[in-house]
Amino acid sequence: MNVAVMGTGYVGLNTAVSLALHGHQVVGIDVDEEKVKQLKQRICPIYEPGLEEAMRSMMDQGFLRFDHTLNGEAKDAEILFICVGTPEAEDGSANLAYLFAAVEEVREAYKRKPSKRGVVIKSTVPVGTGDRVAGLLGDCKELHVISNPEFLREGSALQDALNPSRIVIGAESPEAFSLLDELYKGFAAPVVKTTRQTAELIKYASNAFLATRISFMNELARLSTVLGTNIQTVARGMGLDSRIGPEFLRAGLGYGGSCFPKDTIALLHVGKQHGVALNILEQVREVNRTQPAWCVQLISERLSGLRGKRVAVLGLAFKPDTDDIRESRSLAVLHQLLQEGAIVSAYDPISTETVKKLYPQVEYARDIYDALTDADAALLATEWKECVNLDWQKAKAAMAQPVLFDGRNAWSSDLVKQYGFSYQGVGRS
Ligand SMILES: NC(=O)c1ccc[n+]([C@@H]2O[C@H](COP(=O)([O-])OP(=O)(O)OC[C@H]3O[C@@H](n4cnc5c(N)ncnc54)[C@H](O)[C@@H]3O)[C@@H](O)[C@H]2O)c1
Repeated sequence: MNVAVMGTGYVGLNTAVSLALHGHQVVGIDVDEEKVKQLKQRICPIYEPGLEEAMRSMMDQGFLRFDHTLNGEAKDAEILFICVGTPEAEDGSANLAYLFAAVEEVREAYKRKPSKRGVVIKSTVPVGTGDRVAGLLGDCKELHVISNPEFLREGSALQDALNPSRIVIGAESPEAFSLLDELYKGFAAPVVKTTRQTAELIKYASNAFLATRISFMNELARLSTVLGTNIQTVARGMGLDSRIGPEFLRAGLGYGGSCFPKDTIALLHVGKQHGVALNILEQVREVNRTQPAWCVQLISERLSGLRGKRVAVLGLAFKPDTDDIRESRSLAVLHQLLQEGAIVSAYDPISTETVKKLYPQVEYARDIYDALTDADAALLATEWKECVNLDWQKAKAAMAQPVLFDGRNAWSSDLVKQYGFSYQGVGRS
């Protein structure tokens, strides 16, 4: 099919490449002309494993092109994906300005071309947004508005887009469903067909539930620390229960990224608008907000205060294998350490340049051992492979004090103790 994907960020670009890999003719559209210029030169503007290679291959084979307007390469698109950002507005609701600007462009581009097309909202949007979009496009009779939320994870985004856990399709007409049946016929995933509003709620409910599991474990980790028990063993013991499952039970610095923080607050906002209190979700956010400070407190206690102490922060991206630093917990920790007077050295394999602009007072290291030099403590903030698998002898020789704080419970406490380190994890002494 002929497909246009509006927005070539994390979701849009991975969607575009995965659909091209499935044999569709895809045009990626972005208002950011600089980004489009880069993409046309076959440069991938984001870091995602395997994405740049796949993107180049699809461009070379003629399945993928880029443009900055719907009126050029995309004029014959049968499916128009909207993958623009829906960031947090000042009041916590989802800011839909980019989405409605994109919808207006769709209306302008296709109002005089009456043939059957699907306008597919992949951006995460509050319940009822698809209906509002359908209202705005009411004069374009052949445009079918469909909700098709995205569940990919940064760090494995292309694989997730190619092999989704499920395809959720929310639509209000058989024609709309048949358009997406055709588009996704090469995919093996289970399909959930429902109304637009239910599809929109599935997305928020999924993210809110995953965030809940993380905060639940982080709160238990605080108790585990006091009790002297091991939260990782607790998680393993829980996760083997098939009713619970092992995923998202790891205690740490909390959840970050471009989705969970904004989607949980947006869902709370939807609840308020409809007079429904979502008390569990309120607490989920509160635990997450306070978790970095709680972790820094542990480091402070271990070092008898942080003023003038040198702390090496390993990892800045919100999770490994991405360059995305949006709402990264590493930055929340870094902020707290600086506030308490610590001298901070930091290392990340990819995100350093972006963070430098936000925290110029931090010393940015060229490698891990440079970051560890003369440090009184090292904090694992993002579990990049290279930050987890250290040369422990070299690390110990570089540091002023052999003190490790494992903010992701990813180091082996037995191993590091053999090298003479003192080790503290989250909920795991
Ligand atoms: N990042 C994720 O892991 C993820 C996962 C699932 C769902 N989502 C949701 O998907 C949506 C997009 O997220 P993202 O992380 O890809 O955002 P992003 O900020 O990385 O990308 C958005 C892109 O849209 C472009 N854009 C804005 N207005 C446009 C317009 N009118 N026409 C064309 N392009 C336009 C921007 O220039 C930018 O390149 C959000 O609603 C997000 O919540 C994100």
